[in-house]
Amino acid sequence: MDPETWIKRTEMLIREKCAGDASGHDWPHIERVRGLATQIGEELGADRLRVELGALLHDIADWKFHDGDSEVGPRRAADWLLLLGAPGKLAEDVATIVREVSFKGAGVQTPASTLEGQIVQDADRLDAIGAIGVARAFAYGGSKGRAMHDPAIPPQMHADFEAYKKNSGPTLNHFYEKLLLLKDRLNTEPARRIAEQRHRFMEQFLKQFLAEWDCADAAAILAKSGGD
Ligand code: ADP
Ligand code: NI
Repeated sequence: MDPETWIKRTEMLIREKCAGDASGHDWPHIERVRGLATQIGEELGADRLRVELGALLHDIADWKFHDGDSEVGPRRAADWLLLLGAPGKLAEDVATIVREVSFKGAGVQTPASTLEGQIVQDADRLDAIGAIGVARAFAYGGSKGRAMHDPAIPPQMHADFEAYKKNSGPTLNHFYEKLLLLKDRLNTEPARRIAEQRHRFMEQFLKQFLAEWDCADAAAILAKSGGD
C-alpha cells in the first residue's frame, strides 16, 4: 500500500468514526483541520504526509471522551498505521502529533515537539476560534448538558490538566478559560495571521452576547429612539 492509500483508508476510518457527532468533533472539523494544516504546512515546507495523517487522526480518541486518558489516541493512531503497513517511524511520529495536540488548561504548557505537530495543533486551535469556534463551543456545551451562561459562576484559570478535565462550567466561561487565550499560544506565524480576524470576531460576539443577556442593548436603543 502506498502513502496515498494510507491517507484514503484513514479518511474512510475517521469519516465513519465521526458519523453522528454533535459535539463539534464531526467530520467537517477534521476536514477543516486538515485543510488549514495542509495550507500552513505548505507555507512552512513541512512533511505533507505527517501533517495530513496527524490532522486526520488527531481526534481519533480524544481524552475528553475517554475518561481523561490522553494515551488512548496516540496508541490507536499508531496501531492503525501499523495495521495499514506503514513504517514504524511514521506511526511513531504521527502518534507524537496526536499525543501533543490537545489544550490542557489555561495554566498548562502544551508544546508540540515537531514542526508537523505544531502545525496540526495550530490548525486544531484555529478551528476552535472565530465563527466556527463559537458554534463548536455551544455544540459541545449542549452535548454535555451545560448552561450557555451563568454570571454567578466565574471562569477559572485551570492550573493543571486534572482541574481542566473536571471542569463543567457554563459554555461562555470556556471563552475566557481557553478560546481567547489561543491566539497568543499559536506556534506558527501563518496561523497567527489567520487567527487575528477570528479572535476579533469572538471578542465582538462576547460583547454582543453580554449586552443581549441583560437586555442592555435593547435599553440603549429604546432610550435613544424612544418617544420619537
Ligand atoms: P482540544 O483537543 O484542544 O480540546 P478539540 O479539537 O478537541 O481541541 O476541540 C475542542 C472543541 O470543543 C473546541 O471547539 C472547544 O471550544 C470545545 N470545547 C471543549 N471543552 C469545552 C467546554 N468546556 N465548553 C465548551 N466547548 C468546549
Ligand atoms: Ni480537534
